[in-house]
Amino acid sequence: MRHTPLRAFSPLRRLAALALACLGLSLGLGAVVTGCNRHEAADAGPQAMVARTADDHSYARPQEVRVRHVDLDLTADFQARQLRGTATLKLESKANAKQVVLDVKDLAIERVTDASGAPLKYALGKTDPMMGQSLTVELPQGAQTIVVRYHTEKSGSALQWLDPQQTAGKQKPFLFSQGEEINTRTWIPTQDSPAVRQTYSARITVPSDLVAVMSAKRLTPDGEAVPGHASQRTFRFEMDQPVAPYLIALAVGDIGFKEEGKRTGVYAEKAVLDKAAYEFADMEQMLDAAEKLYGPYKWGRYDVLVLPPSFPYGGMENPTLTFATPTVLAGDRSLVSLVAHELAHSWSGNLVTNATWEDFWLNEGFTVYFENRIMEQVYGKDRADMLKVLGYNDLLTDMKQIEADGHPEFTRLHPDLKGIDPDDYFSDVPYEKGAAFLRMLEQRFGRKKLDAYLKGYFSRYAFQSMTTEAFLADLRQHLLHNDSDLEKQLKINDWLYGTGLPDNVVVPTSPLLDQVSQQISAFAGGADAKALDTKDYAYPQWVYFLSHMPDSLTVDRMAALDSAFDFTHSHNSEIEFAWLMLAVQHHYTPALPTLREFLIGQGRGKFCTPLYRALMQQPGWGLDLAHRIYNEARPGYHELTRAQVDKVMK
Ligand code: BES
Ligand code: ZN
Repeated sequence: MRHTPLRAFSPLRRLAALALACLGLSLGLGAVVTGCNRHEAADAGPQAMVARTADDHSYARPQEVRVRHVDLDLTADFQARQLRGTATLKLESKANAKQVVLDVKDLAIERVTDASGAPLKYALGKTDPMMGQSLTVELPQGAQTIVVRYHTEKSGSALQWLDPQQTAGKQKPFLFSQGEEINTRTWIPTQDSPAVRQTYSARITVPSDLVAVMSAKRLTPDGEAVPGHASQRTFRFEMDQPVAPYLIALAVGDIGFKEEGKRTGVYAEKAVLDKAAYEFADMEQMLDAAEKLYGPYKWGRYDVLVLPPSFPYGGMENPTLTFATPTVLAGDRSLVSLVAHELAHSWSGNLVTNATWEDFWLNEGFTVYFENRIMEQVYGKDRADMLKVLGYNDLLTDMKQIEADGHPEFTRLHPDLKGIDPDDYFSDVPYEKGAAFLRMLEQRFGRKKLDAYLKGYFSRYAFQSMTTEAFLADLRQHLLHNDSDLEKQLKINDWLYGTGLPDNVVVPTSPLLDQVSQQISAFAGGADAKALDTKDYAYPQWVYFLSHMPDSLTVDRMAALDSAFDFTHSHNSEIEFAWLMLAVQHHYTPALPTLREFLIGQGRGKFCTPLYRALMQQPGWGLDLAHRIYNEARPGYHELTRAQVDKVMK
């Protein structure tokens, strides 16, 4: 369900990347480090543990010089829709390097200076549509600081500037960033590779009626006056633990705050603050549950920021401040597994971080596993089991689609993404196949052993980057105890490097969903919808019910379902989405006004892309409609959602 169609592979781009990688190797830039021990790894940083150091999605050469700290001083200009100001980078040079290479995309570089303000020579590389440009700055002997003065361009994909009417409150504009995977370079000139962890600090100046928040310690919650500029105020932030650049995040708007627990709270547009605070009331409990499983929470506070409806993802695990879609505000706390997921990333992803985007499953697969453990702890096994089954079914659907698209290699946990946009690999594979791998280990070793292993893993590699190879080495040492027969028996190699699903996968089951299957059979056999036993159904049961309807459904039977359960007016976005998918597949016209509202009212890629694709797959019925709705909706979507939907509308 998460799968988006692949962009055409460019053999040329692949070749070029390959040639560059070879060049890098011959220059010793991608040096293969073998035989490093833990002590060296800690000293030399994560790079030392990484056999394949090159990140194909960054121009940076951190082996020579790496960015250690970013200090931002930016003004948000809502009229011009620009961030402008300076990024001061603190560098660490490995070999008296004469240049530093940064990643930039859609940035206008005004000048580059050293700490004293003396200009430095710099050059911008050729623009690549996916990667952007390299920014190479000449370093005088011993230079440790560079200051880049710049502003963002309108087309940058990380930032979305919203008009007041695109917000919940409708009164004030809003701005937010989305860094993952390779978008941070569209608003910060830095080394934009997840293996180059950086601390950061920021001064963000905004119109005085707005509030700025970031994924960092919020030092001045009320802002500070700007001398001589009554219409502006400044907010200061500090992240003193090194994070991957995709985790640097900013939002500006009419934002309020409400506390949930000692360490937890909710930020949201004031218009939805109470609703959000009600929805996420269990945050502190989730945090306690997470710590009990895998060790202390290392980031101080854990807050959630609810964004306007165009936020392109369900959630984004920005440290100390998860960004979340308002489509999870169902009013009944039914969709809070999203918070469990983003919270879990505080360990898997933010503490131990995928070293390259080919290791993305180490972030997402571990997180889906961890998320479900939190859900089980807080809400019980029945609910967790249902969610597991839904996830597994999504995986099967996605894998079928990926194979139908002719790219079985994208069912690998560890894909080859040279020359490929990491967004094109995005699917349920890294999420659910990754989680299934850990569940296989859980079944084999038992929870006690696996939990001890995972807890150890998070503490051994805290604040480091992790490759699939390094993970395998660690697994061999600490869980498999170098038993190569056991490793073969568990098919570890197939899991990590093979396509499809190994046959020792543990297929999840749920008694509550089995009951739903019975009702589906009854309905398929002709039973009256109103006579079905759906008492007390929770949202996963409804989603299961809708996504397992027989293909032979007629418009009359759709109408019978609608009149029994009023799906067309559901206020749960997951149920609404599942219903609308069905409505499109079966040409159920009465749902069209809701479909239009749904597609215009929110811009989450996971909902929009499959619905447009489904419409396009019904040429006589849905094609014109898809174009009409998209024309209306597109201006309100985030760049990332536009890019996804554009591909299915061709
Ligand atoms: N880190 C992801 C979001 C992401 C992935 C952004 C790849 C950009 C590129 C986040 O943790 C996530 O997985 N969000 C899910 C929701 C979650 C409950 C599975 C989403 O947005 O659908
Ligand atoms: Zn995630």
